[in-house]
Amino acid sequence: MDFLELAKKRYSVRKYKDKPVEEEKIMRILEAGRVAPTGCNAQPQRIFVLREKESIEKLNQGTRTFGAPLVFVICVEKDLCWVRKYDQKCISDIDAAIVTDHMMLAATDEGLGSCWICYFRPNVVKEVLNLPEGVEPVNILAVGYADEEPLPSDRHDSMNLRKPLDDLVFYEKFE
Ligand SMILES: Cc1cc2nc3c(=O)[nH]c(=O)nc-3n(C[C@H](O)[C@H](O)[C@H](O)COP(=O)(O)O)c2cc1C
Repeated sequence: MDFLELAKKRYSVRKYKDKPVEEEKIMRILEAGRVAPTGCNAQPQRIFVLREKESIEKLNQGTRTFGAPLVFVICVEKDLCWVRKYDQKCISDIDAAIVTDHMMLAATDEGLGSCWICYFRPNVVKEVLNLPEGVEPVNILAVGYADEEPLPSDRHDSMNLRKPLDDLVFYEKFE
């Protein structure tokens, strides 16, 4: 599938079938998260895979994963992340975001639905995953077979779900 076609096909799925995701698909999604670029190639991502109902239920005490049978929690080992010397900005969230995005699009490519989730209680997630000091949960990615009619790929325009390029893009300088 052409890249833009894939990007436009993806949408946030918030209703999943009670059907497990095949191991080969999980491995290809994880591989996408492995090869994603990170600042200075620090590779700070620590990706947790939750497939057991009991673990997902525990996680759901601190978030909502919409009945997805597979949940990834993308964490970062913060001390490994690059820090910009001019303003001390630590790029850990950016590293986690590109890893998550690679995985999310890989899930779409596998015919799966997904939902990126930042609405969670960090303390609950840390406890459920038994995270050591210094490993921070950044994103949750719920994945599974969508239990709903897919949204049309042209919805960004036909349903007015995205702003036009003119509102988002500036050439040479702000005007
Ligand atoms: C960084 C980020 C955080 C998000 N957090 C949540 C969340 O906590 N809960 C949720 O239901 N959706 C969440 N979403 C999904 C967005 O609401 C969704 O992507 C957006 O409304 C556009 O819709 P679409 O994904 O169907 O194109 C998040 C998406 C991103 C990129």
